[in-house]
Amino acid sequence: MPTRSANSAPCGGGGRLARRRATEPMTTSTRADELTHAAIASFNNCPDPRLKDILQSLVRHLHAFASDVQLTQDEWAQAIAILTKTGAITDDKRSEFILWSDALGLSGLVDSLANPLPAGATEATVLGPFWTPNAPKRDYAGSMIERPLGTPALVHGVIRDLRGGPIAGAELDVWQNDANGLYAVQESAPDQDHLRGRFSSRADGSYAFVGVRPIPYAIPDDGPVGDMLAATGRHPWRPAHIHMIVSAPGYHRLQTHIFDSASRYLDSDAVFAVKRSLLRDFVVRDPDDPARPTSIERAEWYSVENDILLAPIATGCA
Ligand code: BEZ
Ligand code: FE
Repeated sequence: MPTRSANSAPCGGGGRLARRRATEPMTTSTRADELTHAAIASFNNCPDPRLKDILQSLVRHLHAFASDVQLTQDEWAQAIAILTKTGAITDDKRSEFILWSDALGLSGLVDSLANPLPAGATEATVLGPFWTPNAPKRDYAGSMIERPLGTPALVHGVIRDLRGGPIAGAELDVWQNDANGLYAVQESAPDQDHLRGRFSSRADGSYAFVGVRPIPYAIPDDGPVGDMLAATGRHPWRPAHIHMIVSAPGYHRLQTHIFDSASRYLDSDAVFAVKRSLLRDFVVRDPDDPARPTSIERAEWYSVENDILLAPIATGCA
């Protein structure tokens, strides 16, 4: 039987337990499994059942982990130092904690748990740290390019429900990096709207926008996460992608990517966010191709077709 922790022991108890109390420190658990039980039991009276579940499971798994790897005191001290460094490098523009979650695959897992989408719906993937609210609203086939650098790419498709019907008036909030690898929020330049925009689908569900062909880029690797990647022989690269959040009344909000099917790192994304169903071909187009949108100058450009299928929010009606 596990020994009760001092916190959960009833008051006024007599006998052997009380006599031991007088001479022993707070916890009477001496064996590792007794200590684990005591730590779990310390949450027994938590009034919030969900919080109780989470904390008890967290303690159970943390203790199992420490036992599994036979964690030494030096290693635990190193871990505390890494967490301290993680806090110190985090600010309102950079969350090293989110980066840990991404680089350990936890963001992707939580995302999958939160989005058990029906078959056929476009898959979701991680948000990443570079989304910012209030991107400018832009017209159908409008360009997000504020400062020409990368090769223009027309992204187009139709937003549909799971039966194939068009969804009109859906909003696509799009952001991506440029040929220098950077997102607008990472630059100090004045073009904070560069390569970001909000677009609406038309009556037939169609949408289109002009961005650039994205390139692979490294997640921030000058902090503790970067140290971990280097120490473990992992690279910090993400394959080329365009981010979008698609929302429409009556449908689940979709946070996803378009991945360039020809990109490097599709099989080793540093944040485990690649889903095969999200790979798309960027097709090279001739400067004189009549389909070239007016917002693209007469030079080489790409197009990529990407239909999006949204899952309806269940109404509870049959
Ligand atoms: C991104 O795709 O923007 C991203 C995702 C996770 C970590 C870093 C960057
Ligand atoms: Fe990204």
